[in-house]
Parts: sequence; C-alpha cells; structure tokens
Amino acid sequence: MMLLLWTLLACQTEGPQVTEPRTTGELVFRDPETCRDCHPDHVADWEGSMHAYAMTDPVFHALADVQAMDFTGKGGQFCTQCHSVPGFLSGETPVAFSEELQRWDQRTEGLSAVAQKGVSCDVCHSITEILEQRNARIALTPDGTVRGPIADPVETEAHASTHSPLHTTGEFCIGCHNVGIPFAESPLLVEKTGVEWLEYKALGGDKECQDCHMPARLGQAAVDGPERTIHAHTFVGVDTSLVDGFPDMERQEALVDAMLQSAVLMQVTADATSTTVQLTNQAGHSVPSGSTAERRMWVDVRLVRDRDQALIYSSGQLDKDGVLRDGTPDAAADFCTGGATTLDPLGDPDLWWFGAHIIGMCDEYTLFAHLANDDPEEHLLRPLATESRTYTFPSLDAEAHTLTVKLQFRAFLPQTVRAVQAHPQLSLPEGLLDKVKVRTMAESTTAITP
Ligand code: HEC
Ligand code: HEC
Ligand code: HEC
Ligand code: HEC
Ligand code: HEC
Repeated sequence: MMLLLWTLLACQTEGPQVTEPRTTGELVFRDPETCRDCHPDHVADWEGSMHAYAMTDPVFHALADVQAMDFTGKGGQFCTQCHSVPGFLSGETPVAFSEELQRWDQRTEGLSAVAQKGVSCDVCHSITEILEQRNARIALTPDGTVRGPIADPVETEAHASTHSPLHTTGEFCIGCHNVGIPFAESPLLVEKTGVEWLEYKALGGDKECQDCHMPARLGQAAVDGPERTIHAHTFVGVDTSLVDGFPDMERQEALVDAMLQSAVLMQVTADATSTTVQLTNQAGHSVPSGSTAERRMWVDVRLVRDRDQALIYSSGQLDKDGVLRDGTPDAAADFCTGGATTLDPLGDPDLWWFGAHIIGMCDEYTLFAHLANDDPEEHLLRPLATESRTYTFPSLDAEAHTLTVKLQFRAFLPQTVRAVQAHPQLSLPEGLLDKVKVRTMAESTTAITP
C-alpha cells in the first residue's frame, strides 16, 4: 500500500477517459438462456467461450480493482465498457470507494445475469456501426431486433431480424480488439489485434476474423429453420477458463491446442554443429496478439546425448520459479520506487521469445497494462512474417545425440499473478498458476551423430 501510494504521488497518475454510453433507445439485453430453445448450438458454443468468461475471470476482477485503486476511481468504468457492455451502459458496474473493503472497487459481482455474462449475444447482435477502431467506440441499438448475416431470415415471434453485412467483416470485431489507454496526449495501444489484422490485409492476407475464429459449416441457424451456412460461436483463441466448473472446458481446451498448432509453421534443420529454426506466421495478426504483455511464445531447444541422457545444450527452459528468463520483472519491480528483482534475466542468452514488455509511468517495465505510459516493447512474430534463428552447439563427441525443438506457448505470466497475490488488499484463488498450461504449438526431433 505504501509503495503504491508513493508510486501514484511520484508519477501523478491520471485515469484513462471513459467514453460516454452510446446507444439509441431503451436497453434490451436479454439473458442468453432465453435464446437457447431456438439456438441451442450457438448458446452451447458461446457459453464456453472467452466472451462468456469476460466478467467471470478472477484475474480480470483483480486487475480491474488494481486499476480502480491506482487511479483512485478516476478511470471510471474503463474496463467494463468492453468486458460487460450491458453492465457499463446500464450503470451496473460503477467504480466506487468501498467502506467495507476500504479501497476503490470495480463492481464485478452480484450483477444482473446479462451484465455478468460478459460479451453476450445481444451485445454483438445489436451493434450497428463501428465509430472508431478501438476502445469499444461502437454504436449499439439494443432494441430487441437482432442484426446478423442472414439476408432472408425466417420470421419469428421472438425477435425482429435485420440483415447486417457489417457482421461478416473483421471491421466488426476491432472496435473492441484494439485496446488503448487514452491519456491526455496520444492514445496508447496496449492490445492491437485489429491494427495487426489490417497490416495482414495490406500485405495480401485475405481472411476475415470470422474465417478463423467462427468457422463456417452447414446447419440450422435456428431449430426448424432451413439448412444454411452457419458459424461456430466458440471464439477460440489462446485462453481457457481458470475457474472450475465453467461450461464446455474440455472441448475449449482441445480447440485451443488445435488453434495454437495452426498458428505457426516451424521448420528445423540441424547438423552436428548447429540447428536453425524457422518460424512462419500463419495467423491473421501477430503471434502472440492481443494481451501480448501476458502471452509468451518461445523456442525450447534441447540436445541430449543418448547414452546417458546428458543435456549437452539447451535454451528456453523455465527457471526454478517456473519463469521464462526473458527479462520480465518480478512483482516488486512494478512500482517506480525501484527495489526490483528481475528473476535471473541473463541466464539464457540464446532465448528466442515472443511477447511484449509494457513501459510504465517511470520508464520501467510494468506488469499492469493500465499503467502503460509509452508504446510497448514488442517481440512479436509479425503478420505473414518468416524469421529464423541459429543455435550453435558445443563440440560433440562422436556418438549418438537427439535434438528436440519445441515451440511453446503460455497464456499467462506467473509474475502478474504473483504481483496480484502480493498486493495487501487483493487475492486470487489458490492454485491458479497450476491451471495455466504450457502448450506445445510445434515439435521436431532429429537424430544427430557427428
Ligand atoms: C422462438 C425461437 C427463437 C428465439 C427464442 C430466438 N430466436 Fe433468433 N432466430 C429465430 C429464427 C427462426 C431465426 C431465423 C433463422 C433462419 O432464417 O434460418 C432467428 C435468427 C436469428 C439471428 C440471425 C438474424 C440475421 O438476420 O442474420 C440472430 C443473430 C438471432 N436469431 C439471435 C437471437 C438471440 C440473441 C436470441 C436470444 C436473445 C434469439 N435469437 C432468440 C428464432 C428464435
Ligand atoms: C462476439 C460477437 C458475437 C457474439 C457474442 C454472438 N454472436 Fe452470433 N454472430 C456473430 C457474427 C459476427 C455472426 C456472423 C458471422 C459471419 O457471417 O461471418 C453471427 C451469426 C449468428 C447467427 C446466424 C447464423 C450463423 O451462425 O451465421 C445466429 C443465429 C447467432 N449469431 C446467434 C447468436 C446467439 C444466440 C448468441 C449468444 C449465445 C450469439 N450469436 C453471440 C457475432 C456474435
Ligand atoms: C463488445 C466487445 C467485443 C467484440 C465486439 C468482440 N470481442 Fe472478442 N473479446 C472481447 C473481450 C473483452 C475478450 C476477452 C475476454 C476475457 O478473456 O476476459 C474477447 C476475447 C476474444 C477471443 C479469445 C481470446 C483468448 O484470449 O483466447 C477471441 C478469439 C475473440 N475475442 C475474437 C473475436 C472476434 C472474431 C470478434 C468479431 C466477430 C470479436 N471477438 C468481437 C470483446 C469483444
Ligand atoms: C488466418 C486466421 C486468423 C485470422 C484472419 C485472425 N485470427 Fe485471431 N488467431 C488466429 C490464431 C491461429 C491464433 C492463435 C495464435 C495467436 O495467439 O496469435 C489467434 C489468436 C487470436 C486471439 C488471442 C491472441 C493472443 O495471443 O492472446 C485473439 C484475441 C484473436 N485471435 C482475435 C482476432 C481478431 C479480432 C481478428 C480479426 C481482426 C483475428 N483474430 C483474425 C488466427 C486468425
Ligand atoms: C477496448 C476493449 C477493452 C477494454 C477497455 C479492456 N479490455 Fe480487457 N480484453 C479485451 C480483449 C479484446 C481481450 C482479449 C485479448 C487477448 O485475448 O489477447 C481482453 C482480455 C483481458 C484479460 C484476459 C486476458 C489475459 O490477460 O489473459 C484480462 C484479465 C483483461 N482483459 C483485463 C482488463 C482490465 C483490467 C481492463 C481495464 C483496465 C480491461 N481489460 C479493459 C478488451 C478490452
């Protein structure tokens, strides 16, 4: 607490501006349960997705509270304008000083069903215009009419339907998928999937977000409806629920593995002196994308002597604290006051990693995106890019060795979870870190005998 207050005084933190609610007419946001009878597949897909999880995530709850405290409420409902549009627009998710907790608090619990359910059906299906390609600058008309891709929808008593070509384009998604911290001068993007996708398009990429994240198939848009091209609503990315009992977790886990395995093409060549690893981005934006400060992709190289399994060369191993040695600070470094410890950052000089460091108020690396004060320092595999790296081995004995190269991914930095856990007024459920998996995106094994 002392450290945090000191930080704020030293850095004169101002909160980000929150855009005014922007809707036309009365707010009709229905609980997705009311759609289930007629759209069972859409609801079953969506309820296990990260869109449904956006207001359930304990890490979101904690980070939104850190934001509320750091800006002493001045940031207002910045976070819920994307994570819970119904809560934001109806004023259900205020940021206020809580006498009970003795701190600033972003309300995230005890909300109406639809405010608690994050990015739900009526949020997307009432979007009528993207005003600006960031920070939920989207125009909504939540009047009960659904806007969607079907030009000739069968009539139903449940709702009116309006054809919306916007819903079939990537532009539709990027009002939320570019996140800027709007300080006085220029808006600072800490998440820029939308910007990267436009870059991909400019380079000749031809896929919309929906092509990869809402794959099409033949089926019924509604029970008893005609057969049409319909779209998966699983919105698979890299994250899965950290909360036990969230719907559809097993399928989402498998879908995330498959998504990551489709993201990058890895080619490995090797001889007795070195190995060259080549990575080609096959996604529609950088890899990783979005919350890049939290994500890490890296190359794990191990050369083992077969006879005794001795490790002759390695790079990309986690340290004893389960941390990648990429120079990301430990929890304590987050405060401008110094006293930082950077968990053995130099222990792996050959490390090839992808992700980002956020630059904070005092030009330090910060773990909290809302404290960004300069463009992030990015290490990303850019859209459609191919990059390669050569790893040089020590000289080998004339006997059999095995080289294993893996492209690894982890969606969450242990440091951020620990920083929240170290906070005197916040907590996260025990065992959270154990649920954050290291996933293998690609793997190659080569026998090497000099
Ligand atoms: C009583 C059944 C029923 C209920 C309940 C229902 N719908 Fe529909 N919905 C339909 C039918 C029928 C269609 C048209 C399907 C077709 O033409 O293939 C449709 C179409 C749609 C479309 C596509 C519109 C277009 O033009 O592209 C969307 C989006 C949609 N519904 C969303 C919802 C949402 C969200 C809910 C819950 C808030 C909901 N529906 C509840 C029956 C229903
Ligand atoms: C993140 C935004 C988003 C959310 C949340 C969302 N949808 Fe959709 N939905 C879309 C988009 C975009 C399309 C059109 C995709 C295309 O045509 O490329 C679509 C299409 C549809 C269609 C038309 C048939 C089809 O599959 O193309 C129906 C019906 C529908 N959604 C129902 C729902 C229901 C019910 C929910 C909640 C359980 C829901 N949607 C949640 C974005 C969303
Ligand atoms: C109203 C804002 C909003 C719109 C519109 C929206 N998203 Fe999202 N999306 C979010 C938020 C917020 C999250 C993060 C949820 C979480 O993990 O807490 C998210 C998460 C995701 C994820 C999961 C990422 C991960 O970490 O695994 C994917 C994939 C995704 N969105 C794709 C899309 C696509 C494709 C569209 C357009 C069809 C779209 N989104 C439209 C707000 C939005
Ligand atoms: C050509 C296919 C493709 C297209 C087009 C595409 N994506 Fe992705 N997306 C992927 C793959 C593969 C991943 C997993 C690897 C990664 O994280 O980049 C992914 C990951 C994501 C994630 C999680 C990123 C992370 O690392 O945290 C989000 C969010 C997302 N996509 C949203 C979008 C949005 C929004 C669009 C359009 C503006 C889009 N995607 C276009 C393939 C695609
Ligand atoms: C402009 C829309 C927008 C705003 C505002 C926003 N987010 Fe998000 N948030 C997203 C999207 C989109 C994703 C998914 C990105 C990805 O998967 O890479 C996301 C993902 C997340 C995640 C889960 C991803 C992870 O790191 O594993 C957390 C936690 C989160 N946001 C916290 C916050 C907090 C705290 C705030 C306020 C300081 C905030 N968000 C404001 C759109 C937004």
